Amino acid sequence: MIKIAPSILSADFANLERDIRRIAAADYVHVDVMDGVFVPNISIGIPVVQSIRKVTDMFLDVHLMITQPIRYVEQFCDAGADLVTVHLESDTEENIHAALDKIHAKGKKAGIVLKPATPAEAVLPYINKVELILVMTVEPGFGGQKFMADMMPKVTAIRGYIDEMNPACELEVDGGVAPDTCKTCIDAGANVLVAGSAVYKAADIPARIAELRG
Ligand code: DX5
Ligand code: ZN
Repeated sequence: MIKIAPSILSADFANLERDIRRIAAADYVHVDVMDGVFVPNISIGIPVVQSIRKVTDMFLDVHLMITQPIRYVEQFCDAGADLVTVHLESDTEENIHAALDKIHAKGKKAGIVLKPATPAEAVLPYINKVELILVMTVEPGFGGQKFMADMMPKVTAIRGYIDEMNPACELEVDGGVAPDTCKTCIDAGANVLVAGSAVYKAADIPARIAELRG
């Protein structure tokens, strides 16, 4: 069963509660956190996650695009995240392991994220201790970018590692996922699809969510 995780980066932040209700047919709420350093954009942070938590029971998938996420992962867990993902490129291997441990110690799910230039093998030191691996299909930082189809061999390679080493681990893709690219992602082995503009720009959001399931 394919899961859909609409990114609220494409929602109207002045009407966030309304825009979260609009995606009730989806599986996860994808929350993009950007610090203006790890990526060249600034989005939302801990107080917004707290506010979202108060108005929805949906699963909150918090994607941290920040340097040294170990500094903040516990606060995102306390704010109400169900899953926190950290970029492999955002700190040393030792600190990424420690960040994942801190998320687990809070009783939450932990995941790792790969930028487009990071190879599939980079997941191997972490694969046995994560509940989700996220492969970026755009350069992180902005919604509405073009889908990078050349990331599909990486998705397939990581699907192979997951099936062999940690079959319960989910495999998510993020960036440019739309009706014309969702099947490619599913065929490559992804089971969670993030979609921002493709969901929020749709005239019929529940129908678009159904369409993205492939
Ligand atoms: C990009 C974010 C994505 C983004 C996806 O840095 O991580 O979640 O919002 O937006 P679309 O689906 O419009 O590419
Ligand atoms: Zn994201």
